[in-house]
Amino acid sequence: MTALSVSTSSAASLRADALVIGVAKGPKGLLLASGAEAVAEAFDGKLAELLATLGATGAEGEAVKLPAPAGVKAPLVLAVGLGEAEQGHSLETLRKAAGVAARTLAGAKKAALALPAASAEEIEAVALGALLGSYSYSTYRNGDGKAPVGELIVLADRKGSKNAKAAVERATAVGEEINRARDLVNAAPNDLNPKSFAAIAQEAAKEHGLKFEVLDEKALTKGGFGGLLGVGTGSANPPRLVKVAYTHPKAKATLAFVGKGITYDSGGISLKPAGHNETMKCDMAGAAAVFATVVAAKRLGLQVNVTAWLALAENMPSGTATRPGDVLRMYGGKTVEVLNTDAEGRLVLADAIVRAGEEQPDVIVDVATLTGAMVLALGNRIFGVMANSDELRDRLHATAEAAGEQSWPMPLPVELRKGMTETTIADLANMGERMGGGLVAGLFLKEFVAEGIDWAHLDIAGPAFHEGAPHGYTPRGGTGSAIRTLVRFAEETAANGAV
Ligand code: BES
Ligand code: MN
Ligand code: ZN
Repeated sequence: MTALSVSTSSAASLRADALVIGVAKGPKGLLLASGAEAVAEAFDGKLAELLATLGATGAEGEAVKLPAPAGVKAPLVLAVGLGEAEQGHSLETLRKAAGVAARTLAGAKKAALALPAASAEEIEAVALGALLGSYSYSTYRNGDGKAPVGELIVLADRKGSKNAKAAVERATAVGEEINRARDLVNAAPNDLNPKSFAAIAQEAAKEHGLKFEVLDEKALTKGGFGGLLGVGTGSANPPRLVKVAYTHPKAKATLAFVGKGITYDSGGISLKPAGHNETMKCDMAGAAAVFATVVAAKRLGLQVNVTAWLALAENMPSGTATRPGDVLRMYGGKTVEVLNTDAEGRLVLADAIVRAGEEQPDVIVDVATLTGAMVLALGNRIFGVMANSDELRDRLHATAEAAGEQSWPMPLPVELRKGMTETTIADLANMGERMGGGLVAGLFLKEFVAEGIDWAHLDIAGPAFHEGAPHGYTPRGGTGSAIRTLVRFAEETAANGAV
């Protein structure tokens, strides 16, 4: 694993394989960002000119290498783009640029980042971006790939250095947990099933001193968890409901985070066609996110209680699978007619939301790769936010924005509920109108939230899994979507002493 540290040494004197600086697009050409001063001096003031000759423009995503001159201990200088100088660089710009640098330098043993780092926030952003950008998933690969950078050193201004160490420690905790979630998402579904996921969670919970409980198929049957059982019944790998709890003795609020954990979604009897099932190992990204969040909350020592609920099942077609037309009795007693076995996420989440509600948390937030409709609506980088209170919905959207994650508030229009009730012999069908399918799914979940509890739903089907070329700090495969939002939400709650 990549090691992260902070230093106030001068960039020129630091021993490393590469030294990273920032460049921006100025009105009259390339500009060097703060942090690059010592390197610029060693280049006798010709650095910007040299970089421009090599094609650097300062655009975001850009990475240009050049050999270092005498006076700089590192042999290589890497200039990464920060975009338009006039707009200033946001924290997210810094994260992305640090991510590009860490990715570009894969194979190096030690890299130092001399990017703008005047405040604790900036230092944390550079550190987190670098740690996320250094991620690579090599579990199944034999050799040949470049190893991630071994050691990343964030160079900080002496002025801001007081809080620099804490900032890097925070980035390490959050970054490592995001990378843990990415590992879980990337694991092949023949290795990661409900049982092995629960075992991994148990191991990590033990390591971090978190309370852990698991219901296996016998306990689920006894408890009447018809949603989890109905979805899992077609699979040789039976379902699990996992609870991982972090408590702080001085906590004034309790957050329940519920994650969809379909370790593979074939669609079941309503089988997905080829072209739609190749990446469906990612359908447990919500469970990975809530798990990563509760561990991060513990590592950060947040003054708030956080409970993660992992609704784990494998959705497979077989002679024992749930049929379209079957009626399930969900945990809590509501009945659901399964019209489409591919709408399985809402079934496992319903059980977990009812169970989470029994403990009367101050808020329930579920996270799920729930609908293709949300991907059609918002694309691959933005998750949808729905809630039973407009205030909570807008708050989570704002929290995501502040954490550097893209989201958008979506409505839960009451008229779409009808489609789930009129066509069914049960209390509810697991499908309604096709149009607005992401909202219909949200309305379905809302039915299972106990009276008086604030609830929000994050549909991360778009951003949870990245199929294109890596960009910024985002690798191919699992991204760790929603974790930064949930961690920040927990931090805000801890700071305010209430949700
Ligand atoms: N896991 C899928 C949703 C999904 C789609 C996640 C694309 C990631 C990328 C979910 O279980 C599903 O199959 N949803 C159906 C619901 C429909 C049958 C009502 C969908 O969106 O098509
Ligand atoms: Mn499905
Ligand atoms: Zn699914």
